[in-house]
Amino acid sequence: MSAVDEAEQLLADLPAAPAVWCSGLRKRYRRRAAVDGVSFTVARGEVLGLLGPNGAGKTTVIKMLLGLVRPDAGDVLLLGRPGHDPRARARVGYLPELFRYQPWLTAAEVLTLHVRLAGTQVPPEERRACLAMVGLADRAGDRVGGFSKGMQQRLGLAVALVARPDLVILDEPTSALDPIGRADVRDLLLSLKERRVAVILNSHLIGEVERVCDRVVILDKGTVAASGTLEELLGQRELRMRLDGVTPEAEARLAATGRLSHTGDAYRVTLPPDHDEARVPDLITDLVGLGVRIHAVEPGRISLEERLLGILRGESS
Ligand SMILES: Nc1ncnc2c1ncn2[C@@H]1O[C@H](COP(=O)(O)OP(=O)(O)O)[C@@H](O)[C@H]1O
Ligand SMILES: [Mg+2]
Repeated sequence: MSAVDEAEQLLADLPAAPAVWCSGLRKRYRRRAAVDGVSFTVARGEVLGLLGPNGAGKTTVIKMLLGLVRPDAGDVLLLGRPGHDPRARARVGYLPELFRYQPWLTAAEVLTLHVRLAGTQVPPEERRACLAMVGLADRAGDRVGGFSKGMQQRLGLAVALVARPDLVILDEPTSALDPIGRADVRDLLLSLKERRVAVILNSHLIGEVERVCDRVVILDKGTVAASGTLEELLGQRELRMRLDGVTPEAEARLAATGRLSHTGDAYRVTLPPDHDEARVPDLITDLVGLGVRIHAVEPGRISLEERLLGILRGESS
């Protein structure tokens, strides 16, 4: 084997580079820091949810990943190549937050144009299948100027997916979609996941993120407020109860089990992450012993929405 062959073999045997690697991203607009030291990685085939309130810096991070906004500091690798390398960009599908296609083009023409821009070739039947996948099969020949906002967003998704990307970045893909359209997008994301396509999904619809994402990065005021798998972020379990006759002793007993809150007769105890199995039955036995009347006991897991609000309010757990 020649040295070059050997080197190529070595490279081929390396694990694939992550879909996205970014480190220390910073961006200021005038005096305001829009993004202030953001780092994260997205593995191949992983679906990452980017969450956070309006103005948190989500779109700015996405634009820096894609080289559309120049970072003041920080580094980006897409699919193992520098973010500005056209060979990396050609493997990335992008749905911008705000976009408009040339209104005189038909949906099919918009796709053809973007395939050409991506520098690849996609056979016509595959382009048609892509339009069908976003529910626009029978509108292929219609001009985009007459499309509703939701239909334009569907077309935007088709554009992001048509050139067989290895990484797809979707900035608010369902903001204009009806619930059925949203369900379609969920299915679409799951099918991308099956094909090992990596996805960054920026959505304010937390339920959507919760259903499809493997991992979540929560941005707040330009920094990463929390990140992890849903399991890590939502590992906490809680106990919801309807109680009456809660004496101060009973309340102390509840508070000893976990963080306690209540409104009226609805009590909620957040259980510690590593609580033992006897904790709940022991609590119930003791409450009965203390004369509390128990109308309902419901175990649950906190939702991503509750967790997100907690993180943004600065609660540590
Ligand atoms: N082109 C720009 N010029 C000035 N400020 C900007 C620009 N783009 C974004 N910003 C500011 O950067 C912050 C983050 O914005 P953005 O990344 O769009 O947030 P998000 O997508 O999380 O809602 C906001 O305060 C916004 O006003
Ligand atoms: Mg945005």
